[in-house]
Amino acid sequence: MTHILGISGSLRKASFNTRLLHCAASLVPDGVSFTAMTIEGIPLYNQDVEDAEGIPPAVTALKDAIRAADGVLLVTPEYNNSMPGVFKNAIDWASRPPRDSAGVFRGRKFAVIGASPGGFGTILSQNAWLPVLRTLETDYWTSGRLMLSRAGQAFDADGHLADPEQQEQLKRYLAGFTAFVRG
Ligand SMILES: Cc1cc2nc3c(=O)[nH]c(=O)nc-3n(C[C@H](O)[C@H](O)[C@H](O)COP(=O)(O)O)c2cc1C
Repeated sequence: MTHILGISGSLRKASFNTRLLHCAASLVPDGVSFTAMTIEGIPLYNQDVEDAEGIPPAVTALKDAIRAADGVLLVTPEYNNSMPGVFKNAIDWASRPPRDSAGVFRGRKFAVIGASPGGFGTILSQNAWLPVLRTLETDYWTSGRLMLSRAGQAFDADGHLADPEQQEQLKRYLAGFTAFVRG
């Protein structure tokens, strides 16, 4: 069984990215167990807090979830042509303390997708993740891209992708990432 962790980088209840994450959970290939999580409960990074109190429980849970995964799918919103600060903050916390970072990130398979109501579907946010994932020494999947634009019209009332072609696209993307994760 291949285990993939999907993380939505939005805290919004009606988040398009969290919806896309749940669509992904239902479209993974056979033999994949998929866990969906959000960054809810992760405090703002403050080294004084880390020094005084150590790693907060929500961050430990995130680190444990990443460590348990063969592959990690970041589902990122785009804010001001980059990734949202709250999502970067969560990954920054997960890279602490430095002695743990390699065990969490180094060599782990990562991929990034995203949804936005605009016409460019998070392309700049996805690009903004590249130096971060490079710095953390992840094994980043570059052979697929999935940018869900016009997200306001993309989902039906049940939260599924309304367009069968978009469903197929996500399914193909997940099949490609799974093959990469399985090596
Ligand atoms: C501060 C801020 C900046 C934004 N900048 C962009 C942007 O650069 N590109 C874009 O496509 N959408 C931008 N948006 C719109 C978001 O894509 C939209 O709010 C989206 O719904 C966020 O993802 P979510 O639905 O998963 O929460 C921005 C939204 C906020 C709040």
